Order: sequence, then structure tokens, then C-alpha cells
Amino acid sequence: MRTVRSALAAGSVAPVAATLDSVNPADLTDVVASVELTSADGFVAACRAAKAAQPEWAAVPAPVRGQVVSAIGRIVADNKEALAALVTREVGKPYSESLGEVQEVVDTCDFFLGEGRRLYGETVPSEMPDKQLFTFRTPVGVAAVITAGNFPVAVPSWYLVPALLCGNAVVWKPAEYAAACAQAMYELFAAAGLPDGVLQVVQADGAATFDGLSTALGERFVDKVGFTGSTAVGERIGELCGRHLQSPCLELGGKNPMVVTPSADLALAVEGALFSGFGTAGQRCTSLGTVLVHSSVHDSFVQAFAAAVESAPLGDPREDVLYGPLLSERFAHRFESYLDWIAAQHRVLGSSAVGRISPSAPRKGFVGDPDRGLFYHPMIVDGVGPGDAIFQEETFGPLVGVCSYDTLDEAIALANRPGYGLSSAIYTTDPTEAFRFRSGVSAGMVSVNNSTSGAEAHLPFGGNGRSGNGSRQSGRWVLDQFTRWQAMNWDYSGRLQKAQMDTAAIAPNLSFRLDASA
Ligand code: UN1
Repeated sequence: MRTVRSALAAGSVAPVAATLDSVNPADLTDVVASVELTSADGFVAACRAAKAAQPEWAAVPAPVRGQVVSAIGRIVADNKEALAALVTREVGKPYSESLGEVQEVVDTCDFFLGEGRRLYGETVPSEMPDKQLFTFRTPVGVAAVITAGNFPVAVPSWYLVPALLCGNAVVWKPAEYAAACAQAMYELFAAAGLPDGVLQVVQADGAATFDGLSTALGERFVDKVGFTGSTAVGERIGELCGRHLQSPCLELGGKNPMVVTPSADLALAVEGALFSGFGTAGQRCTSLGTVLVHSSVHDSFVQAFAAAVESAPLGDPREDVLYGPLLSERFAHRFESYLDWIAAQHRVLGSSAVGRISPSAPRKGFVGDPDRGLFYHPMIVDGVGPGDAIFQEETFGPLVGVCSYDTLDEAIALANRPGYGLSSAIYTTDPTEAFRFRSGVSAGMVSVNNSTSGAEAHLPFGGNGRSGNGSRQSGRWVLDQFTRWQAMNWDYSGRLQKAQMDTAAIAPNLSFRLDASA
């Protein structure tokens, strides 16, 4: 078993406030790491050191920083299997998905290594002669990044890679239950040659992080906060950042709708619902929340969906399964509390029992020994409606609601009703419906004939409403999170030319009309 500590700059101290075991959720007897959690002081120390290290890193030419990003991508690719195996062991993600997750880190590096040779600014014409205007992207400074553990390597890379490429220093606070994955990521990034202090990892719990962040913002050690996690914590981080006149990059929860229209290819829709509802045990921010199915195809869809869920292989995430365990005890307990929301008017389908899989509530065809880990039955809850908590709230587990509708306008209203706005999907063969849905849905991401999860790493990723504050990650769009525009004007006329006042005017003849009689 390894010991995981904060990885701070040389000379910075991370006092040990507590230790915690990071446990394999598929085998609770397997302790993956003993984690030394630091205090708020440790978080502040990292931010102080990052502030000191950042100017030198920003002075490295961007194409050279791009080479470091290129090296990170190669090193991660060459360690793909080992890192994926660790992801599977520490958070219980099926190995094939873990490989995909590591690939997302590589894809992110592949995208941003080229950005090192772009980071374009503009030359802009001036309204005066002998004067030139320019825009430059400048790094924000220090980014404090706090991430969840459901994507313990891919989602952090969406922050770390562009932030570093843009010339920022990063203090990363990963999820405690994914500490070993974070340590591995740190080692892979460090091997690429990042200077001391430019990337630091702080292992800390939520309370110490919040206190440390509050102090670090007050001391002006932190210039940007990135947070992926729950809506409730996102609201607190948004409030804290607002007090320091900062706008964080927030990537929060989702209650992602999938509309199944009468013209849909039902087999395809079932496949998409199975993957996005139950893949990763429903623990993606992009996981399917509620299927909104047209009443004319409700019964045939639900029947096929239930059959697919009933026969899906679940269990040991090292094997070929649809999903493994929940992430950790904390997530399992929270998911159990949501099961109380299932009421008499609901019909549960897709499995033989609700709640934890156990000898008294077995799952047919379970792969491995369910007693070893935090394994839960999949549930389709048919008959949910806007008045139900199960319809309104993210459940972050293997549970999908089904609700029927009659008109597309009604489906769009239902899709927007919970007030999240991350991902969404529509299954239709009618382009009019697809475009009407796109313009009506409040989500930041829309899939047509594809599931709600599985976004590609170079399109803008992010949400609105309860899913986030409109910030976007990935692709060129994330550059606006980690750089600020600096405007420059250079007057070489040798005199003071006053904008708006000394600007030449050319007099038009606005009364000119064509001679219609000619
Ligand atoms: C998350 O759950 O925080 O689009 C991110 C997807 C993945 C990322 C999910 N590429 O499902």
C-alpha cells in the first residue's frame, strides 16, 4: 500500500491534519493508499509557492510550454494501461472506460500542444492614422483547481493542461477518494519537466480546502478557481469567489434529459439510454437523468429498455461489465437516501430488487462477488413527473426516470424543468424536431441520436443554471478561463490623438437616391 502526500514546491510545508484510507470500492478489503490530508495552511502554502513560481513559467515561450504539454501526452500514453488500472482499482470504473478516460487526457494534450504555437492575439485597426491596436492573451496567474473523483484523471486534465499551457501555475485539490490517481497524474506531469512549484497537488478534505481557498483568495495568491463537483458546493465556491471579484469555472451537476420521439430508432435510443443511464454506474455529470418518451412509443421503449437493463452484466470492474461499484461509501450512502424518493405511483423496472446487491437481494449474472464492494441494482423508475424529487434532483447513481409526453413543446418544457442545463439528447429522424429541441433546451450540450454522456474532448463542455455559471471547458473555448485579454494601443504619430474626438470624418450624401425613371 502506498502513502500519498501533498506534492508541494520545495521548501513548502503541508502539515498533516488527518490520514484517510482510499479504498477500492469493488473490494473494500483492498486499501489503495493511505492519504495524508493537510490543513488549510498546507493549501495556502501551495498557493503562495505557486504565486512565486508563476512569472518564470509565464516567461517560457508558449511553444516551449507546448512541448512540455506534448511530453505529458506522450508519457501518459506510454503509461496508459497502468494509469487505467489504477483508476479502475481506486474508483471502480470498468477498465474499458478507464482506458477511454486516460485517452481523454492524451487527446487534451494533443489539442493543446498545438495551441502553444497559436495562443493568437489580434492586430486591430485604429480609428486614427499612425496608430495600431493589438490584443494579447495573458495568463491569469495561479489557478486553484478542485475536482471530483468520478473522472479522476480526464476532468483534472481539462483544467491542468490548458492552464499550464497558458502560462499559469496550478494548485490542484483532487477528491480524497481518488488520491492515488492524483498522485500518479502528478508524477506523470512532473516527468515532463515542469519547473518546481508550477504544479502542486494538495491532498485535503473539503473544509480545509474551503478555508485555505478563502485565505489564499484574500491574500491574492489565487487568480482563478476551477471546480467540478456538486451544485451545492459550487454555489458556495461561487459566493466566495464573488466576494473577491472573481468568476470561477464551475462544472456542476446535471439532470440530463433524453427525449425519445415517435420517429426515433427505438433500438438505438435504448442503447443510448443504457450507456448514459447506467454506464459509470450513473455517476457522470452527463449521466442520463430522465427519459422523456412520447406516449405513443412509451410502452415499447420501456419494455425494451427494461429488458436491456435486466440482462446487462454488472460487477467486477476489471471484467467486461456495464458498470461496477459506486465511487465510495459516502456516495453509496447518499445514493441510498435517494431511494426513499421512489413512491407508490412509480413503477421500478430493470432489476429484481432495489438498493445494494447482496445475498438476500442478488443480481442474476453478477460478475464476481457482490459482497466485496459497493454494488447497487440498476433501476428504471417509470411514471415520474415534475412534482417528484426523483424528477427534479440529480441522483448520481444507477437510476433513470421515465416520463411520457405528448407534444414536443411539452417535452422541451419537461427537459428544462429541473433547472439544470448540462447535457441533453433527442432521438428523432425528423430534423425539424432536432433543431426545435436544440433551440428550446437550456442545456450547454445537445446530442442528436446519441447519448447524453461521452462528449468529445475538443468541443465546449459546460452547463447553465444549476449545472454551472456558463463557463466552458475544452477546446479553444477554455482559453478564456485561463487567459485574460489585454488590449494595447500604440500611437506612433508623435502627437496626442484623442479617440472619438480627433477622428477624421468623411461626409456622405445621405439624400442620394437612384433615378427610378431612367
Ligand atoms: C463528468 O462527469 O464530470 O462527456 C465529465 C462525458 C465525459 C466527461 C464527463 N467525457 O461523459
